[in-house]
Amino acid sequence: MNLLGSLLVLLLPLAALLLPVASFAAEPQEIVCIQCHGAMPGKIGEPVKLWKGSIHAENGIACNACHGGDPKDAANAMSPARGFLGAPKEPAIPAFCGRCHVGVLKDYLASAHGKALGKGGPTCVTCHSNHLVVKASLDIINEKRCSQCHSYERAKVIRAAMLETETMIVAMDKRIAVYKGQGTDTESLEKGLFAVRNRFHTLFHNVDVEMVKKESAGIQADLKKIQAQLTALDESRQKRKIAGAVVVSAMLLLALFAHLLRKTFD
Ligand code: HEC
Ligand code: HEC
Ligand code: HEC
Ligand code: HEC
Ligand code: HEC
Repeated sequence: MNLLGSLLVLLLPLAALLLPVASFAAEPQEIVCIQCHGAMPGKIGEPVKLWKGSIHAENGIACNACHGGDPKDAANAMSPARGFLGAPKEPAIPAFCGRCHVGVLKDYLASAHGKALGKGGPTCVTCHSNHLVVKASLDIINEKRCSQCHSYERAKVIRAAMLETETMIVAMDKRIAVYKGQGTDTESLEKGLFAVRNRFHTLFHNVDVEMVKKESAGIQADLKKIQAQLTALDESRQKRKIAGAVVVSAMLLLALFAHLLRKTFD
């Protein structure tokens, strides 16, 4: 085995050891909240099972990141003196989640939903759940959830506008990936799409039908600019292909001609 090979053999298990530590401040099984709650039945143990499948678990956001407390000292884990916050009551939930999701909290508080907080409006947990929070998508907007408190009509308009934009984004993402795979420099296209996609994902929480429609139109206009760049790429590709074909046919003709000439002189 060469030097590089033996180095890799030595380093790989080390890397495997380090990776989970890098994403978690401590291994999940070292967090006392998970040890103790995980061993309990019913409502006290359930959060652990649900949380394990969440995007928060994936990103190293454990119990104590949300609830506070001391994840290393079982005896004092839930002591307010160690920063334990307990479980938030309904009106406190948006601020609880909004410590990390600052922009979303701001949009939510300014919306009809935020204004109805504590008076029948939905909180973050109504739409995202508390422990099994998964990557957000338009699937959250469905008739069952959104017609609990009012008619589905306005929700439907928002969903349709957003779905149309999302479909465009997904299609363009695929086209860019194809060019990238062929070695084209797609950096500026990717950057453009990334910015538009981020703007798109901040659209929902204001739940203002007119605003979502207006913003969607603006976002789609920006997407069409990127689309035009892609079409220009397609066309220059096409031209190069045709030019290539012309050159190849010309050379073939020339070769044939030369062959015939030689035959005539032989
Ligand atoms: C030694 C066991 C044990 C440890 C360690 C532990 N818990 Fe608990 N936890 C419990 C029990 C039992 C209850 C339910 C009874 C109660 O509220 O005291 C509970 C209740 C809770 C509640 C609900 C409180 C409420 O107001 O309804 C939360 C939230 C919670 N724990 C989070 C945590 C977090 C976060 C940690 C780690 C920093 C942690 N627990 C560590 C045993 C534990
Ligand atoms: C993303 C933030 C978040 C994380 C991470 C989180 N929780 Fe919670 N938890 C909440 C919220 C919000 C509530 C109150 C939810 C409600 O009223 O629906 C809650 C409620 C609870 C309750 C009270 C349950 C009940 O039904 O009364 C317990 C116990 C609890 N959490 C334990 C845990 C444990 C243990 C972990 C780690 C495995 C954990 N939580 C991780 C946000 C979180
Ligand atoms: C301690 C910080 C923290 C708290 C508190 C917190 N989150 Fe998160 N949340 C994160 C991180 C980190 C991610 C993963 C990275 C990302 O997507 O932003 C995430 C991801 C998410 C996502 C997926 C985002 C996406 O890109 O699709 C949702 C939805 C979410 N959190 C909702 C909540 C809700 C609801 C609460 C309250 C119950 C909450 N979060 C509390 C840090 C937090
Ligand atoms: C009425 C339902 C509803 C409520 C209430 C709600 N959300 Fe959302 N949230 C959604 C939907 C739908 C999306 C997905 C939109 C999309 O696909 O772009 C989303 C997306 C997100 C994302 C990902 C956004 C991004 O920029 O990538 C986060 C994080 C999030 N919500 C957190 C929260 C937090 C925190 C609260 C409370 C302050 C909250 N949500 C309240 C429905 C809701
Ligand atoms: C827990 C109750 C509840 C749930 C669940 C709920 N809403 Fe609402 N929603 C309200 C209340 C309260 C208002 C304010 C009064 C009104 O306009 O009906 C509101 C208003 C709205 C508005 C009008 C906003 C405006 O500025 O005119 C839209 C759009 C909306 N909700 C969309 C949704 C969508 C989409 C969902 C599902 C993801 C949803 N709602 C789920 C309670 C809820």
